[in-house]
Amino acid sequence: MGERVFVTGATGRIGLPLVRALRAAGHEVAGLTRTDAGSEALTALGAQVVRGNMDDAEALRRGAEGAEVVYHLAGGVRGPGRITPDLLNRRGTELVIAACAGVPSLRAFVYASSCAVYGDRSNLWVEEDFEPSPNTRYGRSKADAEALVRASTARGDLPGIIARIAAVYGKGFPFMMEEPIRAGRGLLPGEGRNHVPTIHIDDCVAALQVIAAKGRRGEAYHVADRAQPQIKELYALVAAATGGRAPTFWSTYIPSYVQLSAARQNERLWSRLGVKPRFTPDNIRHYTNSVRLRTERLAKELGFGWKYPDPKDGVPAVFASNA
Ligand SMILES: NC(=O)c1ccc[n+]([C@@H]2O[C@H](COP(=O)([O-])OP(=O)(O)OC[C@H]3O[C@@H](n4cnc5c(N)ncnc54)[C@H](OP(=O)(O)O)[C@@H]3O)[C@@H](O)[C@H]2O)c1
Repeated sequence: MGERVFVTGATGRIGLPLVRALRAAGHEVAGLTRTDAGSEALTALGAQVVRGNMDDAEALRRGAEGAEVVYHLAGGVRGPGRITPDLLNRRGTELVIAACAGVPSLRAFVYASSCAVYGDRSNLWVEEDFEPSPNTRYGRSKADAEALVRASTARGDLPGIIARIAAVYGKGFPFMMEEPIRAGRGLLPGEGRNHVPTIHIDDCVAALQVIAAKGRRGEAYHVADRAQPQIKELYALVAAATGGRAPTFWSTYIPSYVQLSAARQNERLWSRLGVKPRFTPDNIRHYTNSVRLRTERLAKELGFGWKYPDPKDGVPAVFASNA
């Protein structure tokens, strides 16, 4: 039978496909959005619109009221101007928890965290019980948000479950670097030998639903592909699928302290102008950190089956469906 579900971040790259899947499964969905475009997209999927920002307690309360499942996805690497990762992810989560804590109908609160909580682990395969050791502001804000979810769950106020999501790929995800690779002008920091865990959007959406259905309160689950190749191997797949050219890794030519200092200045400048900067120290580290996520918990405990366990299958599928 369908459940009542509230989704924050419902209009995002993960949120919209999740809302579509929830509606297809017969659930009654309410999605939070700040914009007209977001409202239209949600209405077109047959979802109810909860109009507002994460600091609008009344909007969050309306969304949470009567909800059986909440997916808290609103957030991101940073916002425009002075919207830091801490404001967006830690503070945002604090406000969403305040609206959801103690809601009697609620049986699962799934928080969209990130593999960025691990920082750089030199290619190590990590399990969910490894201590977070973020080396980015984004990773820190996600680890802090996780701690809030865990604390509220330990108090018995919230049925919190954490999804530590890898870099999601699919049509239109900037992480795929489709346009620069097609145009033969892809540039990336590092040397390409690091491992950045990935997950196909279809598997990400399916895994989030399995976590909501069967995940244990207070636990974290990795949402990542079974195979996690080096980043240069991943982009070679994009190049092969698009007929483009694999990116050039620039660290061979520019020392990392020069890159980080330039990125810091760039972030400062664009945030003063109220714009969302793209070239930041966090972004450099997201492309150069190395870690691999073990996914046994998702597979064995929750019985999850991947549609695309390996990007070797998932990446060509993204472009095949474009045709
Ligand atoms: N994409 C990935 O590879 C990835 C990997 C790991 C973890 N995650 C996490 O998963 C979540 C969803 O990611 P995504 O890629 O789908 O994000 P996205 O495409 O950037 O979308 C962000 C969403 O957050 C909402 N939002 C942003 N600021 C808000 C605010 N102040 N108040 C209310 N809503 C706000 C936006 O809603 P409106 O603009 O409609 O208001 C939008 O729906 C994020 O928390 C992200 O950190 C993503």
